[in-house]
Order: sequence, then structure tokens, then C-alpha cells
Amino acid sequence: MSPQPISTKSTFLEQVGIEHPIICGAMYPCSNPELVAAASEAGGIGIIQPIAMVYAHQHEFREGLKLIKQLTKKPVGLNVIVEKSVSAYEERMKLWMDIALEEGVRFFVTALGNPEWVVEKAHAKGGIVYHNITSRKWAKRALEAGVDGLICVNDGAGGHAGDLTAKQLYDETKDLGVPTLCAGGIGDEQDMTKVLALGYQGVQLGTRFIAAKECNAHSDYKDAIVDANEIDIVLTDKISGVPCAIIETASVKKMGTQAGPIARRLLKGRKTKHWTRTYYAVLSIWKFKRSAKEGMGYKDYFQAGKSVERISNVDSVANIMDRFASSLPKKNRKAQGVTDDA
Ligand SMILES: Cc1cc2nc3c(=O)[nH]c(=O)nc-3n(C[C@H](O)[C@H](O)[C@H](O)COP(=O)(O)O)c2cc1C
Repeated sequence: MSPQPISTKSTFLEQVGIEHPIICGAMYPCSNPELVAAASEAGGIGIIQPIAMVYAHQHEFREGLKLIKQLTKKPVGLNVIVEKSVSAYEERMKLWMDIALEEGVRFFVTALGNPEWVVEKAHAKGGIVYHNITSRKWAKRALEAGVDGLICVNDGAGGHAGDLTAKQLYDETKDLGVPTLCAGGIGDEQDMTKVLALGYQGVQLGTRFIAAKECNAHSDYKDAIVDANEIDIVLTDKISGVPCAIIETASVKKMGTQAGPIARRLLKGRKTKHWTRTYYAVLSIWKFKRSAKEGMGYKDYFQAGKSVERISNVDSVANIMDRFASSLPKKNRKAQGVTDDA
């Protein structure tokens, strides 16, 4: 029999114990500890991206967690990438998750592969796991693994975007019996209100929080987000081997967005697929880190989603969160699931 979610709490806010159903999504390399902490402190929840914390921001994992805990007493989450092609990281991911559990983290956002081992570890300590999905097929697999909720990553998202719209994904997952959150294309409060009206319980934002004062990304990256329009977002498989949404800057125009024919063949081949993706994963970690830190001086691979259209300033996380929170419909506020103004 497939494992069942152990939580008897039925809404995202109840499960995670936060004020606003707004996640500052994990972002390699943009999730610096100060950004994660600020999102949680403002009443949403920040998600730690462990590879970013350790390799891009150079915090030993437990020390980074302790830094976050000094900045906020509120819950934070951990992103656990479970894809096999980055197997070099699997043991480290397990170790990071154990440390996070020891340090009191109880919310986990899994991505890419089978989240079963994450669910086992989390549920043993009363934790909650949400899985990033792009279709009903992946949603059902994640539910078989026992996850407590789904983050529906649509075709507007930054990073590895899906190919369905927010509505299509909601319709595909609404009967699955767990809370669903919307990720992708949400740049302002109106965007959020629209997707909540579809039935989602909350949202996960990425790009909006890169253009935040607490994010350590280079100011060229933030300016590029503020200046870009939706039509400037293009998909490239040239960097990570899988389609990834980036801003079409002058150097991206020059370099093109498609992996070469040899790389494509290697990515498809049964025997070569695994090591080619591992190579790309390592390469993209390095390239994105340089772009985010060095700005336009390096090849500007700025990952961002279509929400750039409605992002018009670099603001503090508290201001961004306040604006979003004050537009939350009553049914998506804390009182829906828990206590205060019910
Ligand atoms: C620069 C960047 C890096 C990202 N890295 C990750 C990651 O490491 N793990 C993950 O689960 N999602 C990652 N994402 C996806 C975000 O967590 C979030 O789902 C997405 O950004 C939502 O779309 P939006 O950018 O339109 O708000 C990344 C997104 C961006 C923009």
C-alpha cells in the first residue's frame, strides 16, 4: 500500500504554521540566508537552497542554518533536490536534511525526482513535504510517495518552467485531495489574486524575490529583472541540459539558446544521458553562480520567469510581503485553517 500523508491538518497554513500562504521559493544561486530569513520573518516562508547556501554563499550548512535562526525565529523550509542525475549530491542532501531536522526545520520542498526518502525522514519527525510538479502524472507519483501537498510549477516560472498554464495545472490536480500552491508568473498582488481565485491555497514566488534588497544577487541581475518584459524571457537548454527560463540579454542573443547537436544526442542516449546531465548540472551550478555574482561582466545568464513583466522596483522583502499579504482574500488568510478571525 502506498504511504499516506500523516498530517491531519488540511490546509497549507495549518500544516506549516505560518501567517501568509506565500513561499519565497528555493533559488540556486539566489537564496542567500538573509533572503530566506527575511521572507519567513515577514510572515511567509523562505526556503533554503542547500547547494546555494554552501557553494554560492560559502556557509557551512549548519552554520548557515544557525545564521538564519539568529535572523528569524519563524519557520523556514529546505529544498531537497532528489534527481538521480545529481547523485553526487544525494548523500550530501541526506546529510543536509538530517541536520535541518536536528535544527528544527519541518517543511521540505522537493524537486525533480522521487521524494519518498524525504517523506520518510520528514514524517518521522512530524514534518511536511511539498513536491514541485509540472503535470498530473508527476503529481500522482509524488502522492504515491506520500507528500502532503503540491507546488504546481507552470509555464510562466523562472528556473525550470513547466509547460501548462496555472489554470490547466490547477484543473489537473484539484481532485487529488491535497493542498495545491501555484508557482510561476506571479509578479504582483493582482497576479496572486488571480491564481488564488482559481482555487490554489497559496503561491511560491521566485523572480519577485531576486529583485529584493535582501537578495545578494548582483545589481545588474536585479536591474535586468526590473527592465525586462515577458517577451524577453526565453527557454534555453544550453546551460543545464534541460529547458530553463532566462532573460534574453545581448550575450544570450549572441550565444543562442539551444544546446549543440552533439550535446543533444548525448542528452538523449540511454548510456550517455546520465553522465551528460551530471556534467551539465555541475556546469550550470558554476555558470549561474558567476552570472549572479558578477553581473554583466560575465556571460549574463539571468534566470527569471515571466513575472518580470510586473516587477518594477527593487524593494525590501517586508514591503513586498506586506503588499501581497494585504491583498489576500479572506479565505486564503490564516483564519481559514487555524484560529484568529474565523
Ligand atoms: C534563479 C532561480 C533559481 C531557481 N532554483 C531552484 C532550485 O534550486 N530549486 C527549486 O526547487 N526551484 C528553483 N527555482 C524555482 C523557484 O523556486 C520558483 O518555483 C519559481 O521561481 C517560481 O516562478 P517565478 O520565478 O515566476 O516566481 C528557481 C527559480 C529561479 C528564478
